[in-house]
Amino acid sequence: MTSPLQQDLADLAALLERAKTESLAYLNALNTLKTSNGSTIDLTDNQLPTQGIGALSAVDAFNERLRQLIVASSGPRYWGFVIGGTTPASIVGDWLATVFDQCSFATAGQGDISATIELETIQLLRQLFNLPDTYLGGFVSGATMSNFTCLTVARQWAGQQLGADIANDGMVPGITVLSAEPHASAVKSLAMLGIGRNNVTRIKYLDGNREAMDVSDLADKLKNLNGQPAILISSAGTVNTVDFDDMVAIGKLKETYKFWWHVDGAFGGFAACSPAYQHLVVGWEQADSITIDCHKWLNVPYDSAIFFMQAKHRQLHVETLQPLNSPYLGDLLTHVNYQTLVPESSRRLRALPAWFSLMAYGKAGYQAIVETNIRLAQSFGEKLANSDVFELLAPVRLNTVCFSLRDAEPEQVKTFLTTLNNTGLVFMTPTVYRGRAGIRAAFVNWRTTDEDVAMVFEEMVK
Ligand SMILES: Cc1ncc(COP(=O)(O)O)c(C=O)c1O
Repeated sequence: MTSPLQQDLADLAALLERAKTESLAYLNALNTLKTSNGSTIDLTDNQLPTQGIGALSAVDAFNERLRQLIVASSGPRYWGFVIGGTTPASIVGDWLATVFDQCSFATAGQGDISATIELETIQLLRQLFNLPDTYLGGFVSGATMSNFTCLTVARQWAGQQLGADIANDGMVPGITVLSAEPHASAVKSLAMLGIGRNNVTRIKYLDGNREAMDVSDLADKLKNLNGQPAILISSAGTVNTVDFDDMVAIGKLKETYKFWWHVDGAFGGFAACSPAYQHLVVGWEQADSITIDCHKWLNVPYDSAIFFMQAKHRQLHVETLQPLNSPYLGDLLTHVNYQTLVPESSRRLRALPAWFSLMAYGKAGYQAIVETNIRLAQSFGEKLANSDVFELLAPVRLNTVCFSLRDAEPEQVKTFLTTLNNTGLVFMTPTVYRGRAGIRAAFVNWRTTDEDVAMVFEEMVK
């Protein structure tokens, strides 16, 4: 009897056709597919088949039980968190990355083109973000891991200033972390790094309705450190109001004070794609490290983000993350080897979807995506501001609208959002801004149009 595995090999063409049919069914329905549903599945009767049912039957089983849980999170009206979609080219790149199934280690010596593609993609991304070639970079699974990678090297740098080698010998006291509005993932990274969530010295916000840091307060805090090293986590786009720290002013402080400067530009960094908004990040090219998420505004599938790190830190970077005591891995240092630069050892060909999308749509394509999303956020913000029911909690600075119901109790805001999300027409997420219960709508999907904004607003005022 032919095993299911051998049968699948024989049926490969039919199987891939089926995958294509299933893919098209989803993608063609994305504009109308619900953004939420109340489905649940029963996990109690889940049995591992003894013989296996073969891939075609597995697709049927998936469709029967699990597919009903899927919501249009990659569709045009999923405005919760900061969730991007997938461009057609990135889907092709992702599919092929799976088919090629390369393990992305090194540039040479292991028959591996993965790291070469990765280096090339980083070059393309540097051009997209107008960053100088003093930056090297690499792919990780998300902005959390990018923040973690950058802060790991930052920690090593700070240790070095204190005469310690933390990667080899463990944590030392005396490292100060400064930030005004760090993303939760940066704070989580501090927990993972042994620095501790509670050890962030908060820099004051600028006056007015701002989340950006007051750089004069940063200067005072750096001065008070009397030469002790610090790690600064700055924001190119805060999650609630997409505020930007003043990159030029921070860069100037680098001339006087000793600190590692990390920029979390997970989605706000995409301001660099538009001549109209790139002033928001001007000066960030002085930073030691930068986080950018690709599965957000680059609109490539999960899991994809990059770090940029100044090339002058390469030696330190490798010292921090190289796997030691593993002669079986071969020579890790002669060529670029991503095992020495990221937390993971084995990784998929993660750069390929981004490579495809960047080649397919170019600088102009991404400028158009970014500018359209910003225009839609502004238009949605205007509708809310002009209504009697809603109010903006902050100006729409880029692509996110942070708003609430006028004169409403937190419970009323919650109920309104739940009712709205339950329609399945749109999905937004709750937040708290300056003590007020609010709602966030983030625009990062290339499919979103004026019609979507109009449709959602109509539903909100029904
Ligand atoms: C500014 C910022 N940094 C980091 C992250 C974490 O990104 P990820 O979920 O890709 O790990 C996010 C996610 O929303 C973000 O907005």
